[in-house]
Amino acid sequence: MSARNLVLIGFMGVGKSTVGRQCAANLQFDFEDTDRVIEAKMGCSVAEVFAEQGEGAFRSLERTVIADLASEAGQVIATGGGAPLDPVNAANLRAGGLVVLLTATPTTILRRVGNLGTRPLLAGAADPRAVIIELLGARMPLYRKAAHLSIDTTHRTVKQLSDEIADLFRRESAR
Ligand code: S3P
Repeated sequence: MSARNLVLIGFMGVGKSTVGRQCAANLQFDFEDTDRVIEAKMGCSVAEVFAEQGEGAFRSLERTVIADLASEAGQVIATGGGAPLDPVNAANLRAGGLVVLLTATPTTILRRVGNLGTRPLLAGAADPRAVIIELLGARMPLYRKAAHLSIDTTHRTVKQLSDEIADLFRRESAR
């Protein structure tokens, strides 16, 4: 495989953006985060898009952004946690690069997501850990299907992860 982009997928809070930014620095690639691209296009936050236009409108924007980014090259792309559940997004991402799934335990995810207000799917939940467990159960098979490979981030530092993933990408691209 000669991958044009490195794509990071996985649940909220697994570290896609933090690790992705460091991978981009390692590979001297551009870094793109689909949520941030949507926010720049819309001039408001993801939480505001959900609140004012609904999840359907957000998913439609997300599909357009992913199709555009995946057709380019030389980028590390961090996707929103729901993006690869859509089969068209999954196919575009797989065609556009090496897709790496980052995973973490529900407890680690809950700790890492911090301010739930910025995550509309968790904001307002009486028991956010239970919501994380339920969503993870439903999503994990689709994440695994979309990914070329998977890496557990639970006990790893950003540096360890970004060094390992950048090396994997270099090896896969040289094949
Ligand atoms: C979502 C994850 C969020 C964002 C939106 C929906 C999801 O991105 O796209 O709130 O469905 O899991 P992060 O994974 O970057 O938090």
